[in-house]
Amino acid sequence: MIGIFDSGIGGLSLYKKAKKAMSDKTFIYLADQDSFPYGEKSEKELRALTRKNIKLLENLGAKVVLIACNSATVSSRDRIRREFDIPLVGVEPAVKVVHDLYSNKKALVLATDRTSRSHLKNKAASYGNVKIIGANGLVSLIEEKFPNIQASELKNILDNKIDGEEVIVLGCTHYHLIQKILESIYPDKIFIAPEEAVIKQLSKFSDLATGSGADDIFLTTGDLAGFQVKLEAIIGRKCDVRKI
Ligand code: DGL
Repeated sequence: MIGIFDSGIGGLSLYKKAKKAMSDKTFIYLADQDSFPYGEKSEKELRALTRKNIKLLENLGAKVVLIACNSATVSSRDRIRREFDIPLVGVEPAVKVVHDLYSNKKALVLATDRTSRSHLKNKAASYGNVKIIGANGLVSLIEEKFPNIQASELKNILDNKIDGEEVIVLGCTHYHLIQKILESIYPDKIFIAPEEAVIKQLSKFSDLATGSGADDIFLTTGDLAGFQVKLEAIIGRKCDVRKI
């Protein structure tokens, strides 16, 4: 099995892509909604949650785990990797890609506060002209209301944050879910959700995970009924969810 976790529904954007690319594999998805939002936690807290989630998925049979959360990935990095025998794949803001591809444009990475602070601490010097900022209110709006989000609600949060920017990198997996809405509200801007590279990386380990022929497993540490409604809206099919 291939394990995936996030603080909530954000990682389902990557689950969808991964399932499409590796349809013969069985996936187990954990939404750690009881600890939501990750983006407002400290690095230490996120390392503990990441450890706990990976152990849980490993115990349930995952042979590789995708940390489908920028906040958890940038907080854990090599430290957590060294603690586990199974391969771990993470997702990080595509700052370098944007820097290289759009060096003549005004580019901004829209992340959570945690991702933005940790990223600046670690890499600020390398890609100085690509800004990275947090937008935590946006994560909560998506987690609570997706798919019923009004354009005015997004504009209230984003207008002054992204005004004047030409390229916006979605540095939080929750934001991937609203890429199409953002493109329709701000048609003059380019929005980038760095999913292909993550799926390519995950595919390298897919041989470790056999497909059992069983249905994918969806777990939440939070509200079961609420998660189920959003899950089915995102992946477009009925599925069972278990509370853990
Ligand atoms: N989706 C996650 C990320 O990519 C976490 C959002 C949150 O819980 O704050 O950062």
